[in-house]
Amino acid sequence: MKKILEGVATAALAALLIPAQVLAEPTNAFQGHELYDTYCFICHGEDGKGKGPLASKMPSKPANLTTSKRSSKELFDIVKGTDKHNINGVMPEWGRLLSDPQIDSLVAYLRFLGNTSEVLPGDPHRGRKIYSRYCSACHGIHGRGDGVMVGVLPMKPADHTQTGAVATMSNTKLLGIIAEGKGVYMPGWAETLTEEEMAAVASYIRLMSH
Ligand code: HEC
Ligand code: HEC
Repeated sequence: MKKILEGVATAALAALLIPAQVLAEPTNAFQGHELYDTYCFICHGEDGKGKGPLASKMPSKPANLTTSKRSSKELFDIVKGTDKHNINGVMPEWGRLLSDPQIDSLVAYLRFLGNTSEVLPGDPHRGRKIYSRYCSACHGIHGRGDGVMVGVLPMKPADHTQTGAVATMSNTKLLGIIAEGKGVYMPGWAETLTEEEMAAVASYIRLMSH
């Protein structure tokens, strides 16, 4: 038992010593969400349904992005501005401003908008900080289920980067797992985090899964 505890302490210490470059995040819907709220909501709306503040002033209607059946490649080309067939010139060419990885993350966010009927229950930016502080030792800093604790405890933390269980889970179910825990090693957080903090971290997890 003592050995296991020493292992946990070493693992926790190792988590604090991860060098900065390892913390650089992969492109996913979290970055896409940030870019979307800066550049796209004005026409396509906060919820992606095409009713942003500028929509009614546009000569053609901004698309409802929650029902698009396009492939990731098509979405990428449309957003970048290299696809000239599917848009009529009212949609800006984002390739002039944004890098390819930024457009990839926007496409991941569009996938998120198309895959879920659940709104984000909280602030994902706040959620990211909570995640790295409380969850990454097991789930990994990038949510891949490969945190340092995996080496010392016989458990498999969920991989939050997979478009699996969480993507289709209701907010109620997701928040329930975070509050009460799951299985043997997933702790409940209701005593440690406020409801707002749990909603924030749930939002971050939702975006990480795309
Ligand atoms: C100035 C208004 C405006 C802004 C800002 C805007 N769009 Fe659009 N978008 C449109 C319009 C209008 C269309 C409909 C096609 C057309 O008429 O060109 C469209 C179409 C699209 C489509 C095609 C959907 C489909 O399946 O046909 C995608 C994808 C899209 N926009 C993504 C984005 C993203 C991502 C951003 C932010 C980086 C963005 N748009 C910002 C106006 C806008
Ligand atoms: C001590 C290790 C540990 C920590 C710390 C931890 N988890 Fe977990 N988590 C697990 C394990 C193990 C599972 C898998 C449980 C199972 O399926 O039996 C899990 C599963 C989950 C699931 C369920 C995913 C699914 O697909 O069913 C969610 C959601 C989750 N964790 C969120 C969090 C959040 C949010 C935090 C931080 C506030 C956190 N976890 C911290 C170990 C941990």
